[in-house]
Amino acid sequence: MDNNRPQWGTRAGFILAAVGSAVGLGNIWRFPYTAFENGGGAFLIPYFFALITAGIPILILEFHLGHKLRGSAPLSFSKLGRLEWLGWWQTFISFVISIYYSAIIGWAFAYTFFAVGQSWGEDTGAFLYKYLGITQGDTTYGFNDFPSFLGGMQWKVLIPMLIVWVIVYIILSRGVQKGIEKANKFFMPLLFILIILIAIRGITLEGATAGLNALFQPDWSGIANAQTWIAAYGQVFFSLSIAFAIMITYSSYLPKKSDINNNAFITAFANSGVSIIAGVAVFSAIGFMAAQSGSEVGEVATGGVGLAFAVFPTILNEMPMGEVVGILFFLSLIVAGLSSLISIVETFIAAFSDKFNIERKKSVNISVGLITLLSLFFATGAGLYLLDTVDYFINSYGVAMSGLIMAIVVGWVLNYTNKVREYNNQISDIRIGGWWNFFVIVLTPSVLGYMAIKQIATDLAENYGGYPDNLIGLGWAVAVLAFVFGFYFQSLRSKNPEFNTPVKEDESA
Ligand code: PHE
Repeated sequence: MDNNRPQWGTRAGFILAAVGSAVGLGNIWRFPYTAFENGGGAFLIPYFFALITAGIPILILEFHLGHKLRGSAPLSFSKLGRLEWLGWWQTFISFVISIYYSAIIGWAFAYTFFAVGQSWGEDTGAFLYKYLGITQGDTTYGFNDFPSFLGGMQWKVLIPMLIVWVIVYIILSRGVQKGIEKANKFFMPLLFILIILIAIRGITLEGATAGLNALFQPDWSGIANAQTWIAAYGQVFFSLSIAFAIMITYSSYLPKKSDINNNAFITAFANSGVSIIAGVAVFSAIGFMAAQSGSEVGEVATGGVGLAFAVFPTILNEMPMGEVVGILFFLSLIVAGLSSLISIVETFIAAFSDKFNIERKKSVNISVGLITLLSLFFATGAGLYLLDTVDYFINSYGVAMSGLIMAIVVGWVLNYTNKVREYNNQISDIRIGGWWNFFVIVLTPSVLGYMAIKQIATDLAENYGGYPDNLIGLGWAVAVLAFVFGFYFQSLRSKNPEFNTPVKEDESA
């Protein structure tokens, strides 16, 4: 057994770190708009269905794998039965995401300063394009004019991004307990306070009710529509950081005596709670904006980059106390983003150090160094398009499909579900019943399998975002390479004797 493995200091420390990973941009700019677009209050039914039948069961599975097998994702899957590639695949998905996630946090950093004095002016969309250095306002260009299409390095994007990497480096190099755990014990309460303050400001604005009605009033017309359910599953997987190698890595630092099932429920419900409060904050502000401009909520509502960096600044221009609220809002993006970024980078720090038998410090240096270099592409004028494309492909093909394969491997190939239940129930407050097997073996793979087929059909029919072929080709290449690299890394020899040594049942309990 590996006695050098770092460990969380407290149970709360682990839960806060897991919640810190789960709560991210997905809660603030993805959940509210996804819910609004897919039936508002009616979306909560597929959402909670997906949470209970897929999100929490897979989270329980990942916590189990990390806790029992005590390894990064590649090491854990290797011990489970020569499935190291699956762990590397998930790790490389995280690797790719971390490259561009830092850019977004960097923008939020810059916007915190722009919020003071609202230097984005009246035309916030034009300001954003100018800030990002996007000269071509359309998406018709591509790699044909490489490298000039990159549009040069944007210093105002680069510098905050480098600051983000320095912060991440400092936290990660201090280790699991003194770095990650301590940071999250500070970040999570802070984030909670920030979001509550923004929500209170939101609901006391004129027009807030209209926004909240638009968000929560159920529209049942789409409930029978497959697209609504796919949106719910997609949101749950992304938001809980599952099938990313993250939760396996974090739970590998749990002490032997730990609860698993209950921790999974707490993490999941805390994450959903933050999503709903963020929904209130965002949609009351959107309702206010609609009232100011005399338009419908639906015309103003949006999500993602557009919401945070174009629509929200416009709202702040009108809002009483807009400068303060702006600072709070962009700070909340930074804090939510940083705690997620730390968790993704930790997946490959742990994986490299397990596989190549190197000290954690060295692995942090290599990982953060490499990823910082790669992220430079996202500080160019092409950053937004690269980001949008890579984000779309890695999430569509990475997360959902590696989740599908994980469920098939555990449920069907290894026939491992009963062992998970037995093990977890011995150490957890909440006992999981046969329903858990059904969800992991039958329901989740069916839904994810259906999603995968639909996804491929959609992407073969038309180019995502109307982007040119070469950009789309890059998206495919990144998604496929994450998978291929998985097998390649499995084939590399490891000096660590733990690899490919299946855990014996008796010694693991
Ligand atoms: N769960 C995070 C969120 O909801 C997203 C995330 C993405 C976390 C990638 C880690 C890695 O924003």
